[in-house]
Amino acid sequence: MTLPATISSIDVDYLRAQFPILSTTVHGGKPLVYLDHAATSQKPQCVIDAIASYYTTTNSNVHRGAHALAAKATEAYEHARHTVAAFLGAASPSEIVFTKGTTEAVNLVAATVAHRLQPGDEIVLTEMEHHANIVPWQLMAQQRGAVIRVIPVTDSGELDMQAAASLIGPATKIVSAVHVSNTLGTVNPVAQLCAMAGSVGALSFIDGAQAVLHDPIDVAALGCDFYAFSAHKLFAPMGLGVLYGRYHVLESLPPYQGGGSMIDSVSFDGTTFNAPPMRFEAGTPNVEAAVGLTTAIEWFAAVDPDWRRHHDQSITAYALDAIGGIDGLTVYGNAAHRVGILSFTVEGTHAADVGTLLDAMGVAVRVGHHCTQPLMRRLGVTSTIRASFSVTTTAHEVDVFAAALTKAVGMLR
Ligand code: ALA
Repeated sequence: MTLPATISSIDVDYLRAQFPILSTTVHGGKPLVYLDHAATSQKPQCVIDAIASYYTTTNSNVHRGAHALAAKATEAYEHARHTVAAFLGAASPSEIVFTKGTTEAVNLVAATVAHRLQPGDEIVLTEMEHHANIVPWQLMAQQRGAVIRVIPVTDSGELDMQAAASLIGPATKIVSAVHVSNTLGTVNPVAQLCAMAGSVGALSFIDGAQAVLHDPIDVAALGCDFYAFSAHKLFAPMGLGVLYGRYHVLESLPPYQGGGSMIDSVSFDGTTFNAPPMRFEAGTPNVEAAVGLTTAIEWFAAVDPDWRRHHDQSITAYALDAIGGIDGLTVYGNAAHRVGILSFTVEGTHAADVGTLLDAMGVAVRVGHHCTQPLMRRLGVTSTIRASFSVTTTAHEVDVFAAALTKAVGMLR
């Protein structure tokens, strides 16, 4: 196979060279072919350096402490909030709450909006949600007697928007949907869903965990009340998430967890709470990861979004072509608007066995249900093999993956 003219190897090689881990080997000298970017991104040297620099020059607790380092760390942490606000198109940094991850962001919103729900109220989700955007709502619905309604997925792996229009109605209080499916790569029409939610007075929550790596996000244009993502999927450290919330909505919510920083005044007669975003950030936050996220966003923003889109489309088409000839291969999802996440099975093989053999040849993919068991049931499978791409993915990596997959399938059948 040859490199298609549409993928500029110079650009990809330039970006790849900034990720030390991508030049390493596994299993006794096999060059690493990392195709698990949807699970977590690798980190460019500038992010690794920013974290090292934070610990060598700045480390301190934030929002407390009367010394130079405390002021410096607080400034770095709040600078991260400004950077994220600009990245998402938020109206103000006060609309950005730092959490542990997307999962905690969903749990935070589910727990704090729970008091608004009456028995019989409806929460609308989709059939392609990650478990993180199902289970917190289920737990809350059980407490409040609310009902979960589910927008079905079509055979092409898209949301059935006609069904959505009939499901979202006067009983709907919350619509929560994934922006980009972690299993199918489908990009959902979330602006339309948010408009439908708004038209019946429901809140909208968008899980952007996979979407932030693709087209630029503009929460104002999407019209969502909440948007969440995890730093680690965006070239930054683990243990940090972002929850965007419209300020007046955040302001109307009670605290999530109690502790330091989230209070205004505490006494044994009663406690008053800080304004958002601090109301939702009890305890010492992950300053290191916030510093890493600032650098990661700056790094990512410097990669032209048009080039990113073009590369993603080209490498996905190239991969589909490279593996498409394997006998018995089924790729799940064929959405008109999709990104570089391919889920597939190969007849006569188990996904876990294929994953093990690919790993032995240096190729890292994810296998299993991808935390989307309801979607797996819809697709009629229990697990798939998932290859996911990034701005660093080369045609050569895809060639190695396709050859390894062909070999693995040959060994298993
Ligand atoms: N949510 C991550 C994935 O899809 C872990 O792999």
